[in-house]
Amino acid sequence: MDSQIYGVLLLLLFLTVASAKPSNSTAQINSNSVLVALLDSRYTELSELVEKALLLHTLEEAVAKHNITIFAPRNEALERDLNPELKRFLLEPGNLKSLQNLLLFHMIPTRIDSNHWPASNPVHHTSLSNDRIPLRANNGDKTVSTAKVIKSDDIIRPDGIIHGIERLMVPKSVQQDFNARRNLRATSAVLPEGAPEVDPRTHRLLKKAPTGAPPALSIFDAMGPGPSLAPAPAPGPGGPQHHFDGESQVKDFIQTLLHYGGYNELADILVNLTSLATEMGRLVSEGYVLTVLAPNDEAMAKLTTERLSEPEQIMYYHLIPEYQTEESMYNSVRRFGEVNYDTLRLPHKVVAEEADGSVKFGQGEGSAYLFDPDIYTDGRISVQGIDGVLFPAEETAPPVAKVVSKPRRGASFLYPI
Ligand SMILES: *[C@@H]1O[C@H](CO)[C@@H](O)[C@H](O)[C@H]1NC(C)=O
Ligand SMILES: *[C@@H]1O[C@H](CO)[C@@H](O)[C@H](O)[C@H]1NC(C)=O
Ligand SMILES: *[C@@H]1O[C@H](CO)[C@@H](O)[C@H](O)[C@H]1NC(C)=O
Repeated sequence: MDSQIYGVLLLLLFLTVASAKPSNSTAQINSNSVLVALLDSRYTELSELVEKALLLHTLEEAVAKHNITIFAPRNEALERDLNPELKRFLLEPGNLKSLQNLLLFHMIPTRIDSNHWPASNPVHHTSLSNDRIPLRANNGDKTVSTAKVIKSDDIIRPDGIIHGIERLMVPKSVQQDFNARRNLRATSAVLPEGAPEVDPRTHRLLKKAPTGAPPALSIFDAMGPGPSLAPAPAPGPGGPQHHFDGESQVKDFIQTLLHYGGYNELADILVNLTSLATEMGRLVSEGYVLTVLAPNDEAMAKLTTERLSEPEQIMYYHLIPEYQTEESMYNSVRRFGEVNYDTLRLPHKVVAEEADGSVKFGQGEGSAYLFDPDIYTDGRISVQGIDGVLFPAEETAPPVAKVVSKPRRGASFLYPI
């Protein structure tokens, strides 16, 4: 309560000082303003941060020109759920810009009330931090970027509106600043589980036995016969034993990718252009674990048609038959400089090294950074977003152009056509 009163007083004091200063600014705050309402609201943690970030003046100017929509994380998201190291980073005076960007990422310069929320197709807005931020509806939930709206239209004022959201959203720029400082591994709330350990003598990653019975065959023997666009063979009588519901785990991670945004091309390839989703589901059902290095849409958009003519080959090179998290990979490259990971595209391996406080895969022009850590980690499938498409070193020159046939869309258990 004290901090609320303090906040309102501070705003009024600020406005007094601001208006006393000769200025051509026409900014004049109304007591009915959404800014005053924010400082007086239940979102006390957010309000305090807005003050600490010295943003009141910026916001006052913003609401003088246009309405704003504020996505306000509930207090718990900023107290209990916020990684203490990230919080410390944000509150260091030298990182004021990061704190400002983080907060401005939660505001857009227009008024979106719940009646005008986009449907399942995301609509991107540019936040006051100048980042693009997608709004959409999903199974009846409204979402903004990675956060679910839990109190829509919570506060409505003539110059703006506040929606309560479940969690703090961290824009990429802030995440990168933070990673660069490397006080912390990842800002993701996902706890890495079952992260493999490194054998200090061999520098190889110790494979942890899955919690169920470990499969007897190597994953390469268990893979479908050769990369092809054929649907995965149906298990015959007495076929493979199903220890896990791999299909639903794969379906789950595809859906997570689609919610996350920015990975639609990859999802489409896995589900529609190839039968890889089916294949992955089958492998996971049989007890194997997989890490997907997931190129984002921007990376996929740069591929030439020749290269995209072999989507399955490309994707196999992005599948690591181990369970790795951002933390486990980062620890490995930090300790050993370079680490080679097997891929499902035999015999090619993908090399990883530490670069700029993150993990970099591949070499030279064909390299990619771990960009969106731990998009999905369930103990069997781990999905790590990367900002490039990887090719084996031998293949850095595009393959001889073939007659390009558009890959046909295979039937899929996930999204029947
Ligand atoms: C004040 O006016 C100058 C010149 O017209 C302009 O460049 C500046 O952006 C204005 N400042 C504000 C705060 O509006
Ligand atoms: C804010 O939105 C309200 C309602 O749509 C509108 O009447 C008002 O003019 C807007 N204010 C500004 C500054 O655009
Ligand atoms: C698969 O294709 C269908 C039909 O074009 C499309 O609606 C669906 O979104 C695609 N699935 C993915 C995961 O992209």
